[in-house]
Amino acid sequence: MPTIIHSLEEALRYDISQVQIEDYWNLGDEPELKMHSIHAYPAKFPAFIASKAIHLAIKDDIQVKTVSDIFCGCGTVALEAKRNNVDFWGCDINPVATLITKAKTFAYDSKKLEKFYRSVQDNYANDVKVYKYDEANNRIKYWFNYGQFQDLSKLKNAILTIPQGKYRICFECLFSSILKSTSRWLTKSIKPQVDPNKQIANVWDLFERQYKKLIKALDELPTSTSKIEIVTCSILTKRSLPKIDLIITSPPYVTSYEYADLHQLSSLWLGFAEDYKALREGTVGSAYNSESFRYDMLELNRTAQDIISALKENDKIAKAKIRSIARYYIDMQKASDQCYRMLNDGGMALFVIGDTEYKGTQIHNSKQLVESLIISGFQEVSVSKRKIINKILSPYRDENGKFTNNKNDREIYHEEFVIIGRK
Ligand SMILES: C[S@@+](CC[C@H](N)C(=O)[O-])C[C@H]1O[C@@H](n2cnc3c(N)ncnc32)[C@H](O)[C@@H]1O
Repeated sequence: MPTIIHSLEEALRYDISQVQIEDYWNLGDEPELKMHSIHAYPAKFPAFIASKAIHLAIKDDIQVKTVSDIFCGCGTVALEAKRNNVDFWGCDINPVATLITKAKTFAYDSKKLEKFYRSVQDNYANDVKVYKYDEANNRIKYWFNYGQFQDLSKLKNAILTIPQGKYRICFECLFSSILKSTSRWLTKSIKPQVDPNKQIANVWDLFERQYKKLIKALDELPTSTSKIEIVTCSILTKRSLPKIDLIITSPPYVTSYEYADLHQLSSLWLGFAEDYKALREGTVGSAYNSESFRYDMLELNRTAQDIISALKENDKIAKAKIRSIARYYIDMQKASDQCYRMLNDGGMALFVIGDTEYKGTQIHNSKQLVESLIISGFQEVSVSKRKIINKILSPYRDENGKFTNNKNDREIYHEEFVIIGRK
């Protein structure tokens, strides 16, 4: 049974250790669509949660016509909305995220897609130009050797011959999906670092493989009449918001990912930024966001104040880290207000969020979010937990962010909270 909260008093008093696991959220009933894995994305959540959330809302008498994900990432919720034939509005501050989401949810004409693929193939094969490696962006030179740079430049130019629009976006997404494997990037690390022993993949072979994967993924998609709108923006500052029946989202983690850094290869190659660091601006949870940030404890809700006070008492924790966590909470309070504004009366917002620990101090993000939702005006908030099954094999990470089986390393989420607010 979920824990149900109706008031601020209850939100402050409830004990998160008493929150129970609800099996409903643990496993999906059907295999995930292949389209979900067309492009890797950090902290992607299991697709079945989105479909189960839609079914739950319908069972709860909500007429689900429009679903939203305010942190849409690589479009997991968007694609499940399409699968369930409901409209979708989503945003993400990261242009790589919105590119992937669009590419996954557009409807394509298979003959046109094949025609464009053949033209990319021909242009690539016939391009005999030598691209100027010396003049390339320094970060591109850092990650790609001369040969890979030549092949990727040819491929990118071949894709740019496709007229602007959904087909070009689709091929840009495939291009983006092969960048890590064709570079020196250490795969499966949450920090950008070089793998000196990397077996670097062949550009065209990998691109062709991704294209074939896309075709199979498209074959499997049911027809849908959903209207889908994807916007690249910060949810925190977006003024005009659509009206929504159901929000399904997973916010950024408080202390781990730097999305702009993790997507630098795509941002640089696709021209989203000359300096990928510019894309950190406004990203919830970015440590860089808070370098010159000053906060007033009174801007934080009570749970956030308690967490920040506990962090301050821990002398192993740097002030800058505490500032960035405070900034995260202030941002999450704003995100909660935005969700409330977007929802139709009676609507529902579902969040999947994990608690964590930093240098021995507990960080109860879930409780902070419950309090934020109540303060934003949600009438009823229910909290339950789910087990993270198969998402990661080990719940521990070493100091470089790599998975490890060493229990002395940092423990990350192996259970997470499912928090549902009703307006
Ligand atoms: C946990 S991920 C979401 C993953 C998503 N559920 C999926 O399955 O792909 C959080 C996302 O929030 C985005 N984000 C961070 N700050 C944002 C902001 N201010 N406005 C909108 N999106 C933001 C990040 O770029 C990231 O894609």
